[in-house]
Amino acid sequence: MSTQTYRALFDLSGKTAIVTGALGLLGRRFCRGLAESGAQVAVVDLDADKAQQFASRLAQDYGTRAAGIGCDVSNPAAVDHMIGQTCEVLGDIHILLNNAASKSEHLDAFFAPFEEYSLDEWRRVMSVNLDGAFLTAQAVGRQMIAQGTGGSIIQTSSIYGLLGPDDRIYQDSHYLGTTINTPAVYSASKAAIVGLTNHLAARWAKHGIRVNTLTPGGVESGQNDTFVKNYSNRVPMGRMAKADELVGAALFLASDASSYVTGQNLFVDGGLSAW
Ligand SMILES: NC(=O)c1ccc[n+]([C@@H]2O[C@H](COP(=O)([O-])OP(=O)(O)OC[C@H]3O[C@@H](n4cnc5c(N)ncnc54)[C@H](O)[C@@H]3O)[C@@H](O)[C@H]2O)c1
Repeated sequence: MSTQTYRALFDLSGKTAIVTGALGLLGRRFCRGLAESGAQVAVVDLDADKAQQFASRLAQDYGTRAAGIGCDVSNPAAVDHMIGQTCEVLGDIHILLNNAASKSEHLDAFFAPFEEYSLDEWRRVMSVNLDGAFLTAQAVGRQMIAQGTGGSIIQTSSIYGLLGPDDRIYQDSHYLGTTINTPAVYSASKAAIVGLTNHLAARWAKHGIRVNTLTPGGVESGQNDTFVKNYSNRVPMGRMAKADELVGAALFLASDASSYVTGQNLFVDGGLSAW
């Protein structure tokens, strides 16, 4: 191969990508990275108007086609409808970033101590983080198998799917005006994502569908200085991630640059999981 051919491995021209949770901190960057690499992008999130606005922006900024689709990924009928709309507007689907996750409208319930955690809140979070990932992967996988095109599915986990939380870093820590921690339901849902990835990677390799996990460490997004300092002290690289730093890994997994990579978990965590 010539060096020029290697660069082309990252080219996503002619590919269509679905990004769920596309309006979030990381989702917007993933959409931009995919669009800049030539992909058509289905911007999928809860609010249809905002998704359409962001899709128009992508089309304008990168000269690619994009569709904004409102969809609650925990709702099977909504997910099927979203797949239908994507195919209708953008054609065959080649890439899925299974990225949506629920924080909560009810922060008290979401951050409640484990000993008092309500089953309702547990199920609500699981319905998005895990059921949503299952439903979306199932619907996209079905579509890719029917197309016979293969594809790449990337599912977003978290370091807290692998590691227990160090409660000391949350002392005097605030985010969006509230005290924070990592709830067990978040860890359990993100650990399950890794299991789902490995299962699907093994099962769908014969269809040319690669399935990998992308595992971010903590991303800077308005946490107070105490949290940033406490967290950064635990990281070999000595700092939190910047949201843009997740995009390269997503593009690697989405593209032919990772054509022999499946069933893997790519940590983008500044080395946190290395010690
Ligand atoms: N930000 C971090 O520090 C961090 C660290 C590790 C892992 N992650 C993971 O990365 C992914 C993206 O994180 P983020 O920081 O961009 O989160 P975010 O909260 O900024 O964005 C999540 C998006 O998902 C959408 N969403 C929520 N419920 C939905 C539903 N039912 N259907 C469709 N969309 C829904 C929200 O509207 C939001 O736009 C998540 O899976 C998250 O768990 C983030």
